[in-house]
Amino acid sequence: MKTFGALLQSGDWKGEKHVPIIHCPDKVKANEEFDLKISIGDAVGHPNTLEHYIGWFKVFFLPEGKKFPIELATFVFGAHGESEIFTKPVGQTTVKVPSTGTIYALSWCNIHGIWENTKELIVE
Ligand SMILES: [Fe+2]
Repeated sequence: MKTFGALLQSGDWKGEKHVPIIHCPDKVKANEEFDLKISIGDAVGHPNTLEHYIGWFKVFFLPEGKKFPIELATFVFGAHGESEIFTKPVGQTTVKVPSTGTIYALSWCNIHGIWENTKELIVE
């Protein structure tokens, strides 16, 4: 039996259309707000149809030296062409953290599974 972690796919977002792209500064100040945006398909577009779509993103932050991640956000995309209405899979929020750590992003494609990406965030 596979663990859940073994189900996660990964790759370089510049060539793999399922990898969530984490947009935020490389360095921030402690407890100072910054914008965090998650997108997909910036380099290679992903379909957004009733048959094939991105359903959600989840984003976590793991402070350096800690064991358990903190969930930052969940973005759910519900319209994929019903009555010609579409939700584009982009999520944005504002975050502040007290210390350096790692941002983890997950994206779910209804056909191709769950994909991950990470980004180090330095707090000065
Ligand atoms: Fe897909």
